[in-house]
This record gives sequence, structure tokens and C-alpha cells, in this order.
Amino acid sequence: MDIKVVATNPIDGQKPGTSGLRKKTRVFMEPHYLENFVQSVFEAIGGAAGKTFVVGGDGRYFNAEAIQTILRMAAANGAERVIAGRGGLLSTPAASHLIRKNGTDGGLILSASHNPGGIDEDFGLKFNIPNGGPAPEGVTEAIFEATKTISQYVTVETPDADLERIGNQKIGGMILTIVDPVADYKALMKELFDFEAIRALIASGFRVRFDAMHAITGPYAKAILEGALGAPEGSAINAVPSVDFGGGHPDPNPAWAKELMAELMSDDGPDFGAASDGDGDRNMILGRNFYVSPSDSLAVLTANAHLAPGYAKGIAGVARSMPTSAAADRVAADLGIECFETPTGWKFFGNLLDAGRATICGEESFGTGSNHVREKDGLWAVLLWLNILASRKCSVAELVQDHWKKYGRNYYSRHDFEALPKDAATALMDRVTGQLSSLAGQTVAGLTVEAADSFAYEDPIDGSKSSNQGLRIRFTNGARAVFRLSGTGTEGATLRLYIEQLETDPGKLDQDVQTALAPVIAAAHEISGISQLNRSGPDVIT
Ligand code: G1P
Ligand code: ZN
Repeated sequence: MDIKVVATNPIDGQKPGTSGLRKKTRVFMEPHYLENFVQSVFEAIGGAAGKTFVVGGDGRYFNAEAIQTILRMAAANGAERVIAGRGGLLSTPAASHLIRKNGTDGGLILSASHNPGGIDEDFGLKFNIPNGGPAPEGVTEAIFEATKTISQYVTVETPDADLERIGNQKIGGMILTIVDPVADYKALMKELFDFEAIRALIASGFRVRFDAMHAITGPYAKAILEGALGAPEGSAINAVPSVDFGGGHPDPNPAWAKELMAELMSDDGPDFGAASDGDGDRNMILGRNFYVSPSDSLAVLTANAHLAPGYAKGIAGVARSMPTSAAADRVAADLGIECFETPTGWKFFGNLLDAGRATICGEESFGTGSNHVREKDGLWAVLLWLNILASRKCSVAELVQDHWKKYGRNYYSRHDFEALPKDAATALMDRVTGQLSSLAGQTVAGLTVEAADSFAYEDPIDGSKSSNQGLRIRFTNGARAVFRLSGTGTEGATLRLYIEQLETDPGKLDQDVQTALAPVIAAAHEISGISQLNRSGPDVIT
């Protein structure tokens, strides 16, 4: 094997964010850009020699080319084996499963998740550790440090690998194993859920619509929902992955999954609707004429998970990201299990899952998952919902409304202000930070502030600390506003305002969400001076 040593220089800004390195596709395609980052990953983990990795991505523009580059570099760095999905495709949860199942040394996942794809859109790459989860901050920092001092990388000159051919082939001295991207994942889902009960539900006429948004979950949904569970053909829509996701945003929320929303929000719509994102780790759940907020979904799943065989023994604990509503907390209290509040990003759940302290985790950003892998998992959430509905024999709306009656309802919304000038976004955050110590006791727009702080987290398992994870303002009436800057955007800055209000009055559980939250929104706007952004309103409301 002829190893080629290529001289290079550090490239600025290769700092992994909330979920790996995300940049414009054209940036990733610049000379040495991808190579520098990949070599830095190998350096940060003590080299690739003798190791086995999983490699796969969501199929977006540049996926296949980038995989060829990674394969050559893995071979040159002495890796023993790479396991890749056919066509270079793997959903993020399926990659996490393969990393764990094969006892590998980690994986490289190519995705920019819910961000659009294409030559003028976004690309991303992240490293997952041997437990199958996103690299924790210690590792991402080591990768970033390596990008700052890199002077060379190694590769081999070989023809492109045949990514379509299942089985083994050689790249230099390395074995490349191409696997069916769906098979192992499907087997795992069969272990966790009562496929017979879901099949019977669907056979009884319960209509399911799943929107793969032209992204990675298409083949998974076809094989599982239509194949194993007997949903009629066409139940999975937009199910052929495309490099630019059909020109859309593969983001499963009411703003981007419009076709699905329109179908479900009608009196003769399907009984159940769901969508997943670019790389298959997010989910949106809908009933007929009913939208389930992701925070409520986490709470409902926590309360009912024991109805699925994989969780029949009950769950050890639940973890949610800080901006996620507190709906799951009250379920945890009721079940007498632990409840954790972590910073935003799935990587913070890894230790809790490994230690067996949390079984189910979730984020307000349409992310839910469990200890079956170390990523959030869109189709897993869909199947757990279906399993619960099959067992409880009720509609989505009835299940959630019952839940609210028992636990109260956390009215919840997130307002995103996208592509802001960075200095304007920073100025807003600085303005709120400057008031944190004096806000308690003050009345703003009719609401009294109880407490305000900048969220810091100490990992209960390894003691690692993360600060500046969002600005929290809690009001005496139980409402809360959180300000945070996105760590996944690729253009300017994105401000996220998260608003929440608990309502326990049984007569007030059916209000319009934005109306119910209007007083908190007004207070949050006043405190932050949001009008100085000169925006007429949020770009996306979820
Ligand atoms: C966003 C979400 C966060 C999620 C991440 C990756 O990150 O808010 O919950 O973990 O995408 O899917 P953000 O852009 O807010 O940093
Ligand atoms: Zn994703």
C-alpha cells in the first residue's frame, strides 16, 4: 500500500458545534478542508491504526465523495476495517446501532441533520465514540486543537470503492464491509416493540402517514412501516432520499412538513402522522387535527413506555435538555424515577444512558430516544407511539388530552430568529446577561421574575462542567423564558427564544398556544429588547 503524505496548513473555524462540524457544502469541498478535519479526528483519538469504524451519511450532496475520501484516509491511517452502509447511506440512529453492535472504535457520520442539502446548502461531519454517541466535549475539543496545529495528512491512491456492493472489499490494507443500512436497525426495532400489536392496529384500518422528507428515513420507513407492519404502500411519502431533499428543508416541524400537516389537519385525514429529518434522528408526531409538541411527546412516552416490550420492566430515569418543557419532570416525580436537566445537544445524554441512570431522553427540538442507541431516533419514537396507541386503543388526541388532565399542560413554543448579524445577536444576549443578577423580584410586562441565571451543568457521572448553556428567566406564576444562540447554524447567528407556561386548571387546557403564552412572550421581549433586532417576528415558530 502506497501511503501518500500531503502537506497542509491549519484551517480556521473547524470547531465542532452542538452536533459536529457544520459548514456550507462548498466550504467542505475546498482543498484540504475535509481531510484536515478527518485527520484531526484520528489524531484526537490516538490514531486509527488497528481500529474499526462505521461510516455513513444522510445521502446529501457530497456524501458519496466525502465517504471515498474518508475511506482512503482511514486506510492510510492504518484502520483495520470500516463498516459502511450501502450507497454510503446510514441514518444517524442506525449508525449509532452499528457502532455499538459491532463493538467498533466509533464512527464518522456525514450529515447536517435538518439543514438543507445541495452545493449551496449545508454539509456536516461528526465523530461518534465507541458507545455509539456523539463525541463529548473533551473529544471535540481535542479534535479542534488538532485542527489548529495540523501540518499533514495521509491518504492512499486507490480507485473509488464500490459502495453498492454488499460484502467485503479491500482498500489498501483495510477491509471495507458494505452492509444493508436497514437490516440491523429493523431487527433492533423488532426486539423493542410489539410488531404484532401494531400490525393488528394498522390492519384494523388505523391509517398511518409518514413523511420521510426526501431524506434518509425513506428506505427505513418503507421496510418497517409498509414492509414489516403492513401499512399500505404509499403510507411513507417522499420516501426516496435525494441529494438536496427535493429542494426543501428536511426538518420535521409544522413549518417545513407542510404537506403532512395539511393532510393531518383535516377531518378525514389519517389517524397518525409523523415525519423525520435529514439524518433520521428527529421526529414530529401528529394525530388527526392534532399536533403533539415534542416536549409533550417526551412526557407521554415516559409515562407509557412500559406498554412496549422493550421497556416493560419500567424505565430508570428520564433526561431532557434544559430548554425542553418540564412536562416530563412531573411524570418522573409520579413514577418515582430520576429526572435530569442537561444542556442542549444529544451528547450530554450519553453518560446518563451509559450509567443506566436515564432510559428515555428528549429535546424540544423534535428529538426523542432511549438507551437502545446513543442518538435520538425518529423512527423509534414513531414506533413507540404506535405501540402505545395499539395498547391503549385510543387516538393521539385522546392520549395527550388524558395526559394533560392528569399532569397539567405545559404550554410551550420556540421562536427562532434566523440569520441575524452576529453582533446584534450577541448584543441581545449580553443585554439579558447584564440583567440576570438584578431581575429577581422585578415586575416586567405584568409578570414578576422569580429567578434568572445562565445555565451551567455538571455531569453527574464524570463531573465535567459546561457553562453558558442558555439564559433562563423563571416567573412567579410558573412561566419560563429561555434565550440561547444556536450552535448548529451556518449563516450569521440564530436566536432561540423558548417559552413555557404550566396550566393545571382543567378548564384551561384547550387554549391556543401562542395566546396562552402571550404574557410570557411580552415579558421576554421587554427584558431582551428584542425589538432592536428590527424583525417583524420570528422566522420559525414551533
Ligand atoms: C439544535 C437543537 C438541539 C439539537 C441540535 C442537533 O441545536 O436546538 O436541541 O440537539 O440541533 O439536532 P442548536 O441549533 O439549537 O444549537
Ligand atoms: Zn438530525
